[in-house]
Amino acid sequence: MNKRTIRDLSDAEVRGKRALVRVDFNVPLADGRVTDDTRIRAALPTIQMLLDRGARVVLLSHLGRPKGKPDPKYSLEPVGRRLAELLPDQHVLFVESTDTDEAIKATHNRNAHVILLENTRFLGGEESNDERLSRGLAELGDFYVNDAFGSAHRAHASTEGVAHVLHPAVAGLLMQRELDYLGDALENPQRPFVAILGGAKISGKIDVIEHLLPKVDQLVIGGAMACTFFNAMGLETGKSLVEADRVDMAKDILARGRDKLLLPTDANVSPSLDAAQSAHAVPRDAIPADEAMFDIGPEASAQFASAVARARTVIWNGPMGVFEKPPFDAGTRAVAEAMGRATKTGATTIVGGGDSAAAVAELELENAMSHVSTGGGASLEFLEGKVLPGVAALDDRR
Ligand code: 3PG
Repeated sequence: MNKRTIRDLSDAEVRGKRALVRVDFNVPLADGRVTDDTRIRAALPTIQMLLDRGARVVLLSHLGRPKGKPDPKYSLEPVGRRLAELLPDQHVLFVESTDTDEAIKATHNRNAHVILLENTRFLGGEESNDERLSRGLAELGDFYVNDAFGSAHRAHASTEGVAHVLHPAVAGLLMQRELDYLGDALENPQRPFVAILGGAKISGKIDVIEHLLPKVDQLVIGGAMACTFFNAMGLETGKSLVEADRVDMAKDILARGRDKLLLPTDANVSPSLDAAQSAHAVPRDAIPADEAMFDIGPEASAQFASAVARARTVIWNGPMGVFEKPPFDAGTRAVAEAMGRATKTGATTIVGGGDSAAAVAELELENAMSHVSTGGGASLEFLEGKVLPGVAALDDRR
């Protein structure tokens, strides 16, 4: 990575200083409790390293999408409680006030080792990347660390603007890990390099397909998205989701990617998503007119698993079917399990954030992968080859 990280900071830059750390604690809550703390745990190595090096840590994060003003529903208070449980040896202080002067005062409280400030999206200028707010945020620390990979595609005051004002501005360990895994896979993969894309719509994945097609040895396509390709091949797709306005695009990709594309040869179909008992597998050219594809079929699952087994690098983004509804989880499970086996034999296996990460968590296979990204939109934009503003703003390596 060509950006400075917290490892590159000298002791003089860290010891006794306030580290202003942007994290992505945008986690799911229910009944005032955090229901999935993956993103909080993912930030702990950075927090711990900064504490070990003698800094005090001031944390900034957004949660949900409040409209630029306080909304108790999106308070980070439950996150602060969970963070305190995860750091039992530290004094963790949650600062409820969004008043900048009060927040600045709190950051000078030497008894607090870790200070979590209230939701950045309660502040008017956050999402508009207001320069005054960025300068205000810069007062909260002596140097800036961005560890919020999940928000790195947002050019907001706390993810981008502040990095222009407060220096050093460096990457945290999670940010570095994410960029190293995703970046190495795209720029310097061990071959064969296989990408697996799924999800409902081709429209959301078109830029990823375009960016990956020249780089990969094989591009595997599952999920309902495959139906738009079936339609482009002139096959009957029944009641399956087909994006009519993307059929020509699918035809073009089929023509250009002929020797690299692997599409499902069969489908698991049913008259409706709720009629799970009627689910059955059919060849892709025999989808009944009154049924829809909700998962790839068993033959496709086996083919996709073989493609994964042959690969030395695998990137996966998007489920193969409606994995929340068995039996339509079988294709997603087959891919995840194949990736788990491939990791054991030395392949690098990377799961994009969002739905695929949720599926892997549901299958309890997170630890079976080389890397599961904490960023949904961010990992997608990275795979599209886009510059992530939260990364671009950080100090270059000298
Ligand atoms: C995410 O969950 O993908 C990130 O936290 C970004 O959230 P946002 O889409 O609300 O900006």
